[in-house]
Amino acid sequence: MRLDTRPCRVDDVLREVAELVDHKARDQGIALGIATAADFPETLADPELLKTCFLNLMINAVDAMPKGGVLSVEAGPARETGGDVLLVTVSDTGQGMTPDEIRTAFEPYFSTKETGLGLGLALTRKIVSDHGGSIALESAPGQGTRARIVLPLVAKPVTERPAEAVVS
Ligand SMILES: Nc1ncnc2c1ncn2[C@@H]1O[C@H](COP(=O)(O)OP(=O)(O)OP(=O)(O)O)[C@@H](O)[C@H]1O
Ligand SMILES: [Mg+2]
Repeated sequence: MRLDTRPCRVDDVLREVAELVDHKARDQGIALGIATAADFPETLADPELLKTCFLNLMINAVDAMPKGGVLSVEAGPARETGGDVLLVTVSDTGQGMTPDEIRTAFEPYFSTKETGLGLGLALTRKIVSDHGGSIALESAPGQGTRARIVLPLVAKPVTERPAEAVVS
């Protein structure tokens, strides 16, 4: 995938996406909270593609809470073993996922929804990995779901490399 990388602020992208889902979230009785680091660093990334990722994750969270709940988005710089990164988490208090669902969720066309295509997470993982980052889902039935995205502060565009599911 060709990345149109430019200096951007991931917190701005997150707020933009949160605004897009806010109306539907409210209608479903979902409280949407977004907390981002005050000294948010600029990063080299493709903001349009990141928008697609975050939109997929937030819509999945909203879909998981038909009877309301809490959708929390957090983002900021973090230190991982490989160096300085950006950490974004999208957490919901929805129905959660079984270990089997977590394992298959990133596969194209896997969906438990009546009208789902099952492409959201596959595309999200591809975009994140093309930025040199990783995505993992933490979930258990009845416990909600947290998607954890790690992005390098300067995206290292990856030309072709097999995408890998990170499951925890
Ligand atoms: N936050 C979540 N809570 C519970 N289950 C989830 C969550 N996110 C994803 N899933 C599960 O993973 C499956 C795959 O998600 P994915 O986003 O790839 O496809 P989809 O949402 O079903 O369809 P699409 O995104 O293409 O409209 C979902 O159908 C659902 O079973
Ligand atoms: Mg989806």
